[in-house]
Amino acid sequence: AVLILLGPPGAGKGTQARMLEERFGLIQLSTGDLLRAAVAAGSAAGRAAKAVMEAGGLVSDEIVLAILKDRMAAPDVKAGVILDGFPRTAGQASALDALLAEAGQRVTAAISLEVDDLAMIARVAGRYTCADCGEGYHDAFKLPETSGTCDKCGGTAFKRRADDTADTARARLEAYHAQTAPLIAHYRALGVLETVDAMASIDAVASDLGSIVSRVS
Ligand code: AP5
Ligand code: ZN
Repeated sequence: AVLILLGPPGAGKGTQARMLEERFGLIQLSTGDLLRAAVAAGSAAGRAAKAVMEAGGLVSDEIVLAILKDRMAAPDVKAGVILDGFPRTAGQASALDALLAEAGQRVTAAISLEVDDLAMIARVAGRYTCADCGEGYHDAFKLPETSGTCDKCGGTAFKRRADDTADTARARLEAYHAQTAPLIAHYRALGVLETVDAMASIDAVASDLGSIVSRVS
């Protein structure tokens, strides 16, 4: 199965992709995570992407597609993938269609996480993760059970993304509306569009997504 999670920054793509990964044995493939790893590694792609990401813009299709194709070629993705944050432009969507067609595959479902813009700024601006295991937290919506200690691994170091400020979140939201939201029509035309109310609680969204994934795959 090839599942796409579409949605603006803060919609819950990463949160839900990790839950689907555990539940259905699919592989989460986040171009945001892959790009952040390239930035941290200081590769040529990472050096080119860094300033764009910090400003909340979109990294070029060329760089994103190179990183994605590399990851898609790995043997572990054969069982099925959840694309989190990809595709984000019309060019990326057609490149994905072509890449899948070469392998005799197609997009199984593109699931649009529907949310309202103002709430997304708040979700993104309060977010942080465990520096050891990556578990996600939020200043207002999801604090660790014991203050300062990760629920999952007991770690005590946390980190925030450089682009998780209110100003950058606004720029990311604009990029979403200008370049990514039009893909909803592309997947509707292909007959694979699904929508989920992502203003609901994390568990309620997970349950809606679980029903969709069980039905389509
Ligand atoms: P990326 O890493 O993809 O970031 P994003 O799309 O902005 O998405 P986020 O990770 O911010 O949000 P999310 O939807 O995953 O929400 P989350 O689950 O964390 O991209 C970063 C940058 O990389 C881009 O700006 C761009 O520069 C570049 N890039 C990446 N891919 C690219 C591509 N294909 N092409 C070009 N450039 C690319 O949830 C957010 C918070 O809300 C969390 O704290 C969570 O706990 C909380 N939360 C989640 N769900 C709920 C809920 N239902 N109720 C309450 N709180 C919730
Ligand atoms: Zn942890």
